[in-house]
Amino acid sequence: MSWIALETLEQKPEITGVEVERAIQDAASRIIRNLPKFTYKFQKAYSEKGFYEPTDNEDWTTGFWTGEIWLAYELTGDERLKKAGEIQMKSFLDRIDQRIGVETHDLGFLYSPSCVAGYKLTGSKVGREAAIKAATELLTRFHEKGQFIQAWGPLDAPDNYRLIIDCLLNLPLLYWATEETGDTRYRDVAEQHIHTALANVIRPDYSTWHTFFFNRETGEPDHGATCQGYRDGSAWARGQAWGIYGTAIGYKYTRRESYIPIFKGVTEYFLRHLPEDLVPFWDLEFGDGDDQPRDSSSASIAACGMLEMAKYLEPEDAAYYIGIAKKLLKSVVDHYAVKDDSQSNGLVLHSTYSNHSLYNTCNHYGVDECNIWGDYFYMEALMRLHKDWAVYW
Ligand code: GLY
Repeated sequence: MSWIALETLEQKPEITGVEVERAIQDAASRIIRNLPKFTYKFQKAYSEKGFYEPTDNEDWTTGFWTGEIWLAYELTGDERLKKAGEIQMKSFLDRIDQRIGVETHDLGFLYSPSCVAGYKLTGSKVGREAAIKAATELLTRFHEKGQFIQAWGPLDAPDNYRLIIDCLLNLPLLYWATEETGDTRYRDVAEQHIHTALANVIRPDYSTWHTFFFNRETGEPDHGATCQGYRDGSAWARGQAWGIYGTAIGYKYTRRESYIPIFKGVTEYFLRHLPEDLVPFWDLEFGDGDDQPRDSSSASIAACGMLEMAKYLEPEDAAYYIGIAKKLLKSVVDHYAVKDDSQSNGLVLHSTYSNHSLYNTCNHYGVDECNIWGDYFYMEALMRLHKDWAVYW
């Protein structure tokens, strides 16, 4: 088992402007071809043998499909996409009104790329109403004592008094709600959560915990544990990627200088644990020579985080991270993106959702398949390289 040396990684080719255009146009065409099947339904969280089945708006992942539709609409201006996005925003409003699958912190993943995006792009009142309701619901998951938003399950569940690193991407919904309503409660909760999360999920070597428990009686930090990583103490690839993007978002909204070294450390740990082709295995413990599945979604998420953070760094640092993001994207486009409709109705192959191991607590599904956030963040990363993109998050 081995990882690429950072110096070797830095010599890898970057994606060119022409390659970005070709890839993003191709992705948008694939999204349009999917509309007949996926306008009143959503793409499922993961494909099976390369193909997504239609699903109702119930899982934590449906917002990514709507987000793909909005990205493709931004690119093409195609009215069919706008219409589909509007139909889906109505579904999101119904979902929050009927409280379907809302006992989760993933309300940001659900409502930012769907309803906040649709509102920003089209001024949709439905999108705005749905997203504000979702943000208000998300506030209810904040624990004053522990100063964090609880990830999963009922708030009084004895075994779930914890946050997870992924939640950093749920916080932009709260910032947006404060900007939109003037009510500072949303922003205050987001800031407290970011601070608690970054103070606890980052280990001394800048690898990350997937989940972190607190003491319910005192609110004090207790211990880290994995759910979807290989084992406690390893670094789940997507958790590390959420850490990269999440720290960039944390910096964007708080401008806390102490988050810059965290971003750099978490990113370097990720880069130092990549295989030769720059697309990580599902856990960073694994490298070239290990017979393990990849998680291509982590490469796209990390690239988005680097491209976001580059906006706030000194020019030399910014150029470095933009260059690295372009190297990761080049590999994803060349070796992982779907090239042929007979292969898949998704955008990117070889992602891993939830890989059960001897040492983790997750179920087993979506291994070495497309997954819907992998497709979404692939398209977002390309969009960030295509133009100076107004971020949905
Ligand atoms: N947020 C859950 C995952 O990344 O699988």
